[in-house]
Amino acid sequence: MKVLVIGQGGREHAMAWKLRQSSHVSQVFVAPGNGGTALEPGIENIDIAATDITGLIRFAKQAEIDLTIVGPEAPLELGIVDAFQAQGLKIFGPTQKAAQLEVSKSFSKQFMAKYKIPTAAFKTFTQIDLAQAYAEKKAFPLVIKASGLMAGKGVIIAEDLIEANAAIELFLKPVKASATPEIIIEEFLQGEELSYIIMSDGQNMVSLASSQDHKRRDEGDQGPNTGGMGAYSPVPWLSEDLEETILNTVIKPSLAGLAEENTPYQGFLYAGLMVSPEGKIHLLEFNCRLGDPETQALLFRLKSDFFSLCWAASHSQLQGKCVEWDDRAAVSIVLCAPGYPGDIAIGEPIANYTRELPEDIKIFVSGAQLHGQGLKTSGGRVLCVSTLGRTLLEAQTKALYWANQVSWPGKFYRKDIGWRATARE
Ligand code: AMP
Ligand code: GLY
Repeated sequence: MKVLVIGQGGREHAMAWKLRQSSHVSQVFVAPGNGGTALEPGIENIDIAATDITGLIRFAKQAEIDLTIVGPEAPLELGIVDAFQAQGLKIFGPTQKAAQLEVSKSFSKQFMAKYKIPTAAFKTFTQIDLAQAYAEKKAFPLVIKASGLMAGKGVIIAEDLIEANAAIELFLKPVKASATPEIIIEEFLQGEELSYIIMSDGQNMVSLASSQDHKRRDEGDQGPNTGGMGAYSPVPWLSEDLEETILNTVIKPSLAGLAEENTPYQGFLYAGLMVSPEGKIHLLEFNCRLGDPETQALLFRLKSDFFSLCWAASHSQLQGKCVEWDDRAAVSIVLCAPGYPGDIAIGEPIANYTRELPEDIKIFVSGAQLHGQGLKTSGGRVLCVSTLGRTLLEAQTKALYWANQVSWPGKFYRKDIGWRATARE
């Protein structure tokens, strides 16, 4: 089978690498891919942007692609799944309408309210003065969210009214004359985050292993929010009871709600949850795709054939499928370019990147391009070092060693990925 992966980050590198291991797969193409996918044997980059749907359809037809799998949210927002299906091409991902769950936080929060999915109390606004008047009456911290896609940078946790007012102005300032920006102001929830990702075929679903991302830039979960600085899997405190609660109060009602609205959901569905110290869960957000960097940890633990799962899910054949995982813990640490998540410096050659590593270590490429025989930085999140260990601490120690080996000027990363769980170990 020939597979096309759409996207260009570390998540897509991990997806392409894992798909290539399937005995059913003869060739993996990645559009547009990055320096990491360019260097993988049996994987070929295709120079078509993830949002160039016409170009991608032309390529899928010409190369006789058997299955296309979408990595990021941008093509989903543009309706890539609907467009491929209209041409009779097999693709795994949600339709444009279903992807509204991620694309519009305002839609998503209203959906959660309608189907009684536990979430933070919220209100939506389009006018700066009304939003600021509302914020003035609220307790702090207060969470201000842009409704549209912001690559992980659309949430500001305001500690006081000055910060809240600035965030409201930032997100509600019109960028395009045509678009009316919208924001959500919601209560701040205490607790620990959990990424719970499932695959749905439209009728049936399977859960993937649990994982936890680290959104803040700095150690101890300080500093600005980012796209994700590192993740680990599994989350040791996720009990069977808690998982049942997540399935029964978040996942199943959401899938049923979508089906009720004639939008049966096919694709990865990622629930970003907050779990309170008392074990109460709230849904922070939905993503209509796999997480980055969660995928780099998850797929490292996946023992089942990833291609077969995607094939089954895209052919409504997930019923009865089991997903097997390596018992070891996985951690993935993101190495960033200086300035991330703000203005970044790129174009630096990367020293000591290697594919020649033991089976329990892999360096996925997020934002780097091929330059001669080596790599040059091209994005804010540059590399993602993933490792497996008998304990999370062992995996973390190994990942930190390799994170220190590769280098470029100004590289930085969090040395505490998994800190809450390793403290428990
Ligand atoms: P979101 O894009 O909605 O997942 O938000 C990004 C990150 O902001 C989350 O992963 C949390 O770390 C944080 N966050 C979002 N909403 C809340 C909330 N209501 N309370 C506390 N933290 C939040
Ligand atoms: N790791 C968070 C995300 O992919 O949205």
